[in-house]
Amino acid sequence: MFTPDDVPDLSHRVAIVTGGNRSIGLETTYMLLRKNCNVWIASRSQSGFEEAKQTLSKRNDIDDEMIQRLHFHSLDLGEMKKAQLSGQNFVKNNPSRLDIVIANAGVSLQRPDELGPDGYELTMQTNHLGHFSFITSLLPLLEKTAREHGEARVVITSSDAHAFAKEGIDFDSLTKSKPHLGIRGLSDAFARYGASKLANMLFARELDKRWAAPLRKQGVMVSADCVHPGTILNTGLGGTGSEWGIPSFIGTITRASAMFIGFSSLEGAMTQVWVATTPDLENEDHGKYFVPVTNWRGRYMASKESPPDSKWGSDDELAAKLWEFSEDALVKAGGQRI
Ligand SMILES: NC(=O)c1ccc[n+]([C@@H]2O[C@H](COP(=O)([O-])OP(=O)(O)OC[C@H]3O[C@@H](n4cnc5c(N)ncnc54)[C@H](OP(=O)(O)O)[C@@H]3O)[C@@H](O)[C@H]2O)c1
Repeated sequence: MFTPDDVPDLSHRVAIVTGGNRSIGLETTYMLLRKNCNVWIASRSQSGFEEAKQTLSKRNDIDDEMIQRLHFHSLDLGEMKKAQLSGQNFVKNNPSRLDIVIANAGVSLQRPDELGPDGYELTMQTNHLGHFSFITSLLPLLEKTAREHGEARVVITSSDAHAFAKEGIDFDSLTKSKPHLGIRGLSDAFARYGASKLANMLFARELDKRWAAPLRKQGVMVSADCVHPGTILNTGLGGTGSEWGIPSFIGTITRASAMFIGFSSLEGAMTQVWVATTPDLENEDHGKYFVPVTNWRGRYMASKESPPDSKWGSDDELAAKLWEFSEDALVKAGGQRI
């Protein structure tokens, strides 16, 4: 069984957790902090960061020294050029090392009739295109860290919901808004969330193939993997449902049922923290998908590698196409080619 106490000592290490200010991301931050890591919460609001700091500082096992190792880095995944600049600024202004990146931030069930400022539908924009722009700008620092300190890891939070993307990724539809709200709109929004989580998985696979595996061949231990955190019903994901005409009491009941069904946010953070820190994966292949293992009561026990639940999750052609599409989208949005 893997518990927060089993996270190895992370003294001197530096981690970024995107969306580390609440829910699964906050618990990820918590586990890294209490094992002596220097943690940067990359999120879009300083006030959200201050709230997270307050929450953590009230915990019995978090002391002042730990809180001093917690920092804010401004990141809005909603625009590609801004997300790339955010990564470039981190490299310019922050410590000379970066050992761990956990790409945890995410949205779901965005309105299908709206596009983001770069012209892409909002779920793929935030969950994949924003992270693609941010993470690719951090690669030189990750490589330097691995050369100087032994290793560096990227972990991307995907989901079992990747299996909702039954037809893979429909690139043409990403720049089209869909007029439907109501039940039809909700079903479109689920499919778009699934496609974005499939993109998270394919990005981890392709990043490992293009960037990490060639470096590992030279003895530079970098890696990229992705995870499903489990199902956690009382996070902010999915909003209130009111924009879909769903009565608000249904959201309240769903969130309340989290006391009995599904994981806590802390359990949800375990797999990504394990993949980011365990020595067990040091000499393994990467670009993989990891999931939680539960006991008979559905409680988190451990994490393990798993084949994706859909054929698209291991489709190398689709992964390469997604990389090219994302890089072109970044350049069209005014960002720099990788
Ligand atoms: N909950 C589940 O059952 C479940 C299952 C499978 C996978 N996941 C994945 O787990 C991850 C965390 O989800 P969660 O349930 O903890 O959700 P959550 O409570 O809604 O937290 C999402 C985080 O993402 C941040 N975020 C959203 N849009 C952003 C943007 N444009 N730029 C920067 N940060 C942004 C949020 O920041 P703000 O506070 O500023 O909004 C928040 O910190 C997501 O990738 C999700 O897809 C969750």
